Amino acid sequence: MTIDNYKNVVVTGASSGIGEAIARCLSQEGLNVHAIARRTERLENLASTTNCLVHSMDVCNSREFVDLLEKIEVDVLINNAGVGRGYGQLAEANFEDIETTIDTNVKAAVHAAKAVLPGMIRRKKGHLINIGSMAGLYPLASSLYGATKGAMHVLSMDLRLELQGTGVRVTEICPGRVSTEFYDAALDDPELIENKKDSGITEVTSEDVSQAVVYALNVPQHVNVNRIELQPTEQTYGGMQFVPRSSK
Ligand SMILES: NC(=O)c1ccc[n+]([C@@H]2O[C@H](COP(=O)([O-])OP(=O)(O)OC[C@H]3O[C@@H](n4cnc5c(N)ncnc54)[C@H](OP(=O)(O)O)[C@@H]3O)[C@@H](O)[C@H]2O)c1
Repeated sequence: MTIDNYKNVVVTGASSGIGEAIARCLSQEGLNVHAIARRTERLENLASTTNCLVHSMDVCNSREFVDLLEKIEVDVLINNAGVGRGYGQLAEANFEDIETTIDTNVKAAVHAAKAVLPGMIRRKKGHLINIGSMAGLYPLASSLYGATKGAMHVLSMDLRLELQGTGVRVTEICPGRVSTEFYDAALDDPELIENKKDSGITEVTSEDVSQAVVYALNVPQHVNVNRIELQPTEQTYGGMQFVPRSSK
């Protein structure tokens, strides 16, 4: 069990959804989990019900975020914090939402990786898990969000190449629809939020995703789980659309 070789884990975006489930699960597995997010109350609840150490912080405050990470001997980094501001058509996105989504989903993840990798390389062990998305791999009419998740995909692939021979492993986890608060944070219109959340299918759960993380951490050291895609059985991508110009 390679999970036993690891001690300290950092999970970003651990106050709800996928990140919270991963933090709870890895704490249960006996790891020393540092859970990062902005909502203090949620983090306090996590701290009082698990052994997680919580840090109330905005990962977009790059300097503060990097300073914290450099103080921890991080064995496993879970780059999970993410938002879908500006979700939908790019032509309708506003300036602030573009900044927020790129800063949270990409800039913070790159800073985090850079902060922890030198220590991992020196110790010849470590595991970087990037929470990407099916939206980073397949077309979705939400190009801003897709572009940020596509960046996580290339970051994961390129890091594997850079880290070859170091013993540090890199895994990308790409969920399809997971039942979380994602759309509550992404959208402003309550009706739109309800519509988006009501997929009418049985969605993947955050706990399902946390099990994928445990799997990736637990395979023997000589195996690198490159990518896990998990989507609801009732969801898929692709198909063909024909939209006459006159309809827009
Ligand atoms: N739900 C889906 O269908 C789905 C599918 C594919 C991929 N994903 C990805 O999964 C990841 C987790 O999303 P989720 O679905 O679990 O949604 P969620 O419940 O909204 O969780 C997002 C987490 O990110 C944190 N976060 C956001 N901005 C932050 C910031 N600036 N600083 C620190 N923490 C921040 C939030 O905490 P605070 O608000 O407390 O800061 C929260 O803990 C994201 O990267 C998302 O893109 C989700």
